[in-house]
Amino acid sequence: MKHLIAPSVLAADFSNLREATAMINLSEADWLHVDVMDGRFVPNISFGMDIVRTLHQLCEKPLDVHLMIVEPERYIERFREAGAEVITVHYEACPHLHRSIQQIKATGAKAGVALNPHTPISVLENVLEDIDLVCLMSVNPGFGGQKFIYQTLAKVRRLSARIEERNLPVLIEIDGGVGLQNAEVLLQAGARVLVAGSSVFKAEQPLDVISRMKSIGNNTFSY
Ligand code: DX5
Ligand code: ZN
Repeated sequence: MKHLIAPSVLAADFSNLREATAMINLSEADWLHVDVMDGRFVPNISFGMDIVRTLHQLCEKPLDVHLMIVEPERYIERFREAGAEVITVHYEACPHLHRSIQQIKATGAKAGVALNPHTPISVLENVLEDIDLVCLMSVNPGFGGQKFIYQTLAKVRRLSARIEERNLPVLIEIDGGVGLQNAEVLLQAGARVLVAGSSVFKAEQPLDVISRMKSIGNNTFSY
């Protein structure tokens, strides 16, 4: 399967979401990644479901909603109603992860689980067949524009091998510090969804960056 590109709107100019989403609509991006932060699970607050709803009205691409919030089960239905197509919760925020996954699936959304950089992939052993996506955080969540934590690469490889062994249709998404400098190696390691915030929205030519990320692998290698 061709990999997916999910620019993160966190790095966009919030005073002009219409322009940011118009660029995404024109682009080769597959999804729009939407970071919801509560100031409790992570030390930053971004926005809630009203902004997600606005993004859904403006954006023609599926919304990939990354919930960096405590007790996400309280809000899953409301994010779905606001237009989320993929809903990702954090393993570290869900004591009843299996139930939270079922709750997401019951809304009709795709279910994702995110792991912080220090969390081993083994914690997903018993839910891997229940989910559509694993989001491996390659920065500590909370802020855009941070440096990629290189140990994540080995994690992508291990998780990819595990998914292949079990022959599961789970997508590996990588989130944080991703750009043209590391996209290819991440894809070779087994990543299938690249989240890119600053590297897209802070670029002079965001459409070109998206297109270059999307075309990695065309005629150069197979993965
Ligand atoms: C970090 C967020 C990321 C962030 C990525 O907590 O989950 O999605 O927007 O931003 P960059 O690509 O700038 O690291
Ligand atoms: Zn994110």
